[in-house]
Amino acid sequence: MKHLIDPTDLTRKETDEIIALALDIIANREKYRDCLKYHKLATLFYEPSTRTRLSFTAAMMELGGNVLGFSDAKNSSVSKGETVADTVRVVDKFADIIATRHSLEGAPYVASRFSRVPIINAGDGSHAHPTQTLTDLLTITRELGGIDGITIGFCGDLKFGRTVHSLIKALGGYKDIKVILIAPDELRLPDYIKHDVCDRQGINYREVKTIEEVIGELDVLYMTRVQKERFLDEEEFARVKDSFVLDPAKLEGAKKKMAILHPLPRVNEITQEVDQDPRAAYFRQVENGKFVRMALIYSLIKWKDDPTHAMPEHEEYFTDVTLHCHNSKCISTHEDVKPLFHHTDEGLVRCVYCDAIVSK
Ligand code: NCD
Repeated sequence: MKHLIDPTDLTRKETDEIIALALDIIANREKYRDCLKYHKLATLFYEPSTRTRLSFTAAMMELGGNVLGFSDAKNSSVSKGETVADTVRVVDKFADIIATRHSLEGAPYVASRFSRVPIINAGDGSHAHPTQTLTDLLTITRELGGIDGITIGFCGDLKFGRTVHSLIKALGGYKDIKVILIAPDELRLPDYIKHDVCDRQGINYREVKTIEEVIGELDVLYMTRVQKERFLDEEEFARVKDSFVLDPAKLEGAKKKMAILHPLPRVNEITQEVDQDPRAAYFRQVENGKFVRMALIYSLIKWKDDPTHAMPEHEEYFTDVTLHCHNSKCISTHEDVKPLFHHTDEGLVRCVYCDAIVSK
C-alpha cells in the first residue's frame, strides 16, 4: 500500500504518473466523473485549513465519491484524549482513504503505521506538505512546460514554511535545478534541508538577501507567508513579519515567462497590483490543487493492493532507549509512539517523525 507522508514516498515515475493523470483529468473531466462512486474519503483536520480541506473535498466529489470527517479536533474524540493511532484505527473502518492535517510533526506518519487504508499527509506542523508539492509541480508544468532545468527562488519564511521544505525535497528528483533562497537570517531554510536534501541530491542552492538581486534569473518565484502560528517568540515574529513584499516594481527585470507561485493564504507579501500580472499563477495554482488531488486519491486507491506501489523500505531506521527527541512540536514528545531514529551523512542522529536532531 502506498501512503503519501513525504514527497519522497513517491518515486519520480509515480509523481510523473500522477501529474500526467491530473493533466488528463483537466482535458477529460467527464471521463472521471463517477470513477470513485461509493468510495469515501475521510478528512481528519486537527489544524485550521480552508483551501486544502475544501480542495480534497471538491476533488473527491468530482470523482463521484463521498467525504466524511472533522475540521476541528475539538469536535472529535481527540478532545477526550484519543491518540492518533487509535483514531485512525477507527476511521479506517469507515473510509477508503484518509487525508489528515496536524500541528504535531510526524502525526500523519504515525497514522500510516496503523492504518489499513492509504493516508495522505495534508500538512504536519512546519514539517511537510506533499500535496501542496504535487500542486506546485503541476502548476510549474502547466505554466512553463516542464520542471527540469528551472531556477526557482523561494522567498519569505523558509524556516517554518512546510510547503517550501516539501517542494525542495521533490525537486531533488529533477535535473539541473537551481534553488535561490531569499529570506532574513531568522527565517533561513533549516539545515537538514540544505544538507540532507540539497547537498545529497545535488541541488545547486545559494542564499541571498533581496528579491531584486536575483529576479532576472528566476523561472519561478515561490512566495510564502510568515507563519505567525509557529513562532514561539512574538517579538521575533514582529521583527520579520514584513520582510518581503512583492510589488510591480520588484518584478522589473523579471523574465517574461516567469511564474509567481504562492501556496496561499497571502497576508501582505504580494500586493494586489501583482494579481493583474499574467505571471501571477497563484489562483490558477489553487485549481491545479484540486486536479492533482483527484489524481492522487484515484491513484492511491487504485494502487492499494498492488505490491509494485509499496512504501519505501527504511532499514536504516533504529530505536535506542537512551535517545529522545526534544522537539516540542513532534508527535513523539506528545504521544506514546515507538521512538525511531536515523543517522545523517554527518554522523548526527535525527528523529524519523520530525527530522529534528536528537541527543541523549
Ligand atoms: C500552506 C500551509 O498550510 O502550509 N497553505 C496551504 O496548504 N495552501 C501555506 C500557509 O499556510 O502559509
